[in-house]
Amino acid sequence: MKRIVVLISGRGSNLEAIVRTAREEGWPARVEAVVSNRADAAGIAWARGLGIETAVLDHRAYPERARFDEALAALVDRWQPDAVALAGFMRILGPAFVQRHEGRLLNVHPSLLPAFPGLHTHRRALEAGCKLAGATVHFVTAELDHGPIVAQAVVPVLPGDDEARLAARVLEREHAMYPRALRWLLDGELLVEQGVVRHRGGASQLWL
Ligand code: GRF
Repeated sequence: MKRIVVLISGRGSNLEAIVRTAREEGWPARVEAVVSNRADAAGIAWARGLGIETAVLDHRAYPERARFDEALAALVDRWQPDAVALAGFMRILGPAFVQRHEGRLLNVHPSLLPAFPGLHTHRRALEAGCKLAGATVHFVTAELDHGPIVAQAVVPVLPGDDEARLAARVLEREHAMYPRALRWLLDGELLVEQGVVRHRGGASQLWL
């Protein structure tokens, strides 16, 4: 069994999608542990309820970012993961952590990168008058919300949309796309050439 560690900070709906899909599809991999920087993350309670190992590492106990990074790296090392999935993890990871897990570290971001890295992506897309929005799964690099793009899901922006409606439409697509992208990584299906990710078998990396 390959081992996945998921890092969260909140609700954990992408975590749920990953755990559910892995179980339903009988993956040769499973979520060994869920780590949160917040003790009150709903996803932590959910994972505990399923008997998945959990850990909380409160970033406020580490005034220096690099120390938090070291502690997180040491914690995650316990499970010797084959893949580390960031799913709504609201801390920027330092270069030490990123380099340690290079090639097995994925994130899902609720915009069509490279548009709208950072926060409030849906509000910014609406304010810019975008007609399309979506989400991106990408390899994590030391630069926030950058890194080679593994998959993208596209949704329309509809008349009358507000942030919540658009976010819900995008999130539904994240739940389909993120488990699929993670499975590709675990199966060794992803090739990165000059910053561009290709699926070895030619599977579509675009969810329309
Ligand atoms: C998602 O929109 C994801 O794209 C972003 O944070 C949100 C996490 O939601 N990185 P959840 O905790 O997985 O429900």
